[in-house]
Amino acid sequence: MRISGATRVAGVVGRPIAHSLSPVLHNAWLAAAAIDGVYVPFSVTPEGFGDLVRALRGGSVAGLNVTLPFKEEALALADTASPRARAAQAANVLVFGEDGGVHADNTDGMGLLAAFAEQAAGFDPAAAPVAILGAGGGARGAAAAFAEAGAKVRIVNRTLAKAEALAASFGGRAYPLDRAAEAFEGVGAVVNATSAGLAGEGRLDLPLSATPATAVVMDMVYKPLKTPILAAAEALGRRTVDGLAMLIGQAAPSFEAFYGRPPPADVDVRALALQILEG
Ligand code: ATR
Repeated sequence: MRISGATRVAGVVGRPIAHSLSPVLHNAWLAAAAIDGVYVPFSVTPEGFGDLVRALRGGSVAGLNVTLPFKEEALALADTASPRARAAQAANVLVFGEDGGVHADNTDGMGLLAAFAEQAAGFDPAAAPVAILGAGGGARGAAAAFAEAGAKVRIVNRTLAKAEALAASFGGRAYPLDRAAEAFEGVGAVVNATSAGLAGEGRLDLPLSATPATAVVMDMVYKPLKTPILAAAEALGRRTVDGLAMLIGQAAPSFEAFYGRPPPADVDVRALALQILEG
């Protein structure tokens, strides 16, 4: 890769950021498309995100992907936001205009639906309710995307009050985690958007056998790629969708926002990401 005086810089910011796969995906696409661009990680302190966004106003950097825990702050700091970022109450994309403006977008929902389209061909979000596990930012984004795609959403969460608040935003129903079996009846899909199973967090034991045989089970966690939830779903014969497909699915429209064209189709970025995940 040659960095020139005209190289267009974009990047990703989060905390922690060292294990982000986004630089690998975007730089592989840039190289294959022969775009004079580079995509780098930005490491900030918990308080430093606002300073970074202020410093980048004016367009020295084309844009940023934003990951945990800054997605809500990213939306709050932007001057304008897409309807889908407002619905998710979070932004994973900031684009810096030369006029000093900052525009927020959210491509996580697109990534989620693209992952289903890729790994669960024929899945129709509007055909049956979708059960979403969790009531944090990830769950809100998923609920926004599925509601927009015509699904009735069922929010299942350990803390019922949070499920009720989220369900109310999208006209869905709320269930406590110990009534997940009820929430799974007749669903078209189950989506795990909890942080359970992530480093240090407890593991969820879900009554997946309560789902119809046709249900698709998706986990936003991609490390490991086959999470305990996906393994349990597979053992029951359910179709599964993994979090890596969603990660790549949100990266593609982000790339277009930064570099002005969609990523080239002929690069197997999934294989690259898998190489890294498998260490
Ligand atoms: P994010 O923004 O990534 O979605 P979050 O706002 O911290 O993260 O939300 C984490 C979600 O995972 C919450 O829904 C949380 O449930 P509570 O609302 O009851 O806290 C859920 N969660 C985390 N650890 C869990 C566990 N061990 N069992 C069940 N749910 C868990």
